[in-house]
Amino acid sequence: MEKIRVRGGRRLEGVLSVSGAKNAVLPAMAAALLTPEPVVLENSPAVRDVATMIRVLQRLGAADPVREDGRIILRVPEIRSPEAPYELVKTMRASVLVLGPLLARCGEARVSLPGGCAIGARPVNLHIAALEKLGARIQVEHGYILATGRDLRGAEIIFDSKTVTGTENVMMAATRARGRTVLRNVAQEPEIEDLAALLNAMGARITGAGSDTIVIEGVEGLRGAVHPVIPDRIEAGTFLMAAAITRSSLRVENCRPDHLVAVLDKLRDVGVRMEVGDSSVRVAPGSPLRAGNLITLPHPGFPTDLQAQYMALMTQAEGTSIITESIFENRFMHAGELRRMGARIDIDGHSAIVQGATPLTGAQVMATDLRASACLILAGLVADGETTIDRAYHIDRGYERIEEKLRRVGADVERIR
Ligand code: EPZ
Repeated sequence: MEKIRVRGGRRLEGVLSVSGAKNAVLPAMAAALLTPEPVVLENSPAVRDVATMIRVLQRLGAADPVREDGRIILRVPEIRSPEAPYELVKTMRASVLVLGPLLARCGEARVSLPGGCAIGARPVNLHIAALEKLGARIQVEHGYILATGRDLRGAEIIFDSKTVTGTENVMMAATRARGRTVLRNVAQEPEIEDLAALLNAMGARITGAGSDTIVIEGVEGLRGAVHPVIPDRIEAGTFLMAAAITRSSLRVENCRPDHLVAVLDKLRDVGVRMEVGDSSVRVAPGSPLRAGNLITLPHPGFPTDLQAQYMALMTQAEGTSIITESIFENRFMHAGELRRMGARIDIDGHSAIVQGATPLTGAQVMATDLRASACLILAGLVADGETTIDRAYHIDRGYERIEEKLRRVGADVERIR
């Protein structure tokens, strides 16, 4: 099984370019189910989850997708079979994003119920409850969500709590429901705004995406569209922290600083010096890092997908940081691996108490999920000696050629067997 080997102690220098966002392209790909016409997604990242979503869409009836120059061309002339099977959904929970579009397109869907994952139970009860409010009849049987609803109707829906893919699923279903749908207490992530922009380019009538209330006027049908996927703010945040933890001078380009406000604020708080441009951020080697408490929150708060990387950073900061994870109940698996590298971290319920600055030593560690693997790479960049990260496949799910990108700015990172 592939591993990633990092030799620490090098300063990085140069430019890191950000790819398209994994969490924006996946719902956008599912949206192609809503029309028989071609949907062209530009700036699509070459990550493994995209390949998995392509396989799911092919099962449903997508003609062979074209992938060239960072573009994906998808066309679903008809829904051949409205089933997203267990063997695909178990490898990628985001496959559940086909549920809403299938209901809207053909009034029927059989989608394997995503199981739990390393970071939490992650139920989809909010998706189901909201789709039922649009008039879908839903049962869960033999591990599958069985949904029917040939005549979805607009409704007023208040989510009990914010859910990113739940908002996206229901927004897509409501585009072709009869009448108006009002979604309240929705997630406000930039990926949701990006999906609404695509759907509106396809002829939908959506307003309010990015705020906590979205209004959708149902339409008869949707057409094809060409859409540039937004840059990946989580990849950008990871690179900013790679620069900060190695005290390097780096420019992170092709990003959207306006999607990273909470992250940039937090990094400034802990002593990272940055110049922020329209589509780039330059990190300058600065004063020693200071400890900083953090709580992860739905957007526009600090993203949970950067919590692990921030924990690695805080191992190198002077003082005690308390990191509270408010989104997922089990997202501190990386703490144990950082401790193997010499970090001083105690877990107390939903909080991790990190003492710094602590010199890290290279070790054999194991990635438990996508963002944990990014955290371990960052720790490896400052550790003394060699770090070998097992289960490297996690990182490929959401980062496009990360070791190549890091090597280009001077890091000693490579893939080994
Ligand atoms: C999205 O997951 C992202 N994935 C996650 O990124 C990200 O961590 C998460 O949003 C939060 O920002 C994609 O966009 C593909 P949620 P999602 O529904 O939509 C609970 C990464 O590393 N909940 O907003 O699945 C849930 O258990 C991944 O790229 C319910 O209880 O997250 C969690 O505690 C990891 N019932 C909270 O809400 C539901 O029906 C937020 O989850 C839905 C969610």
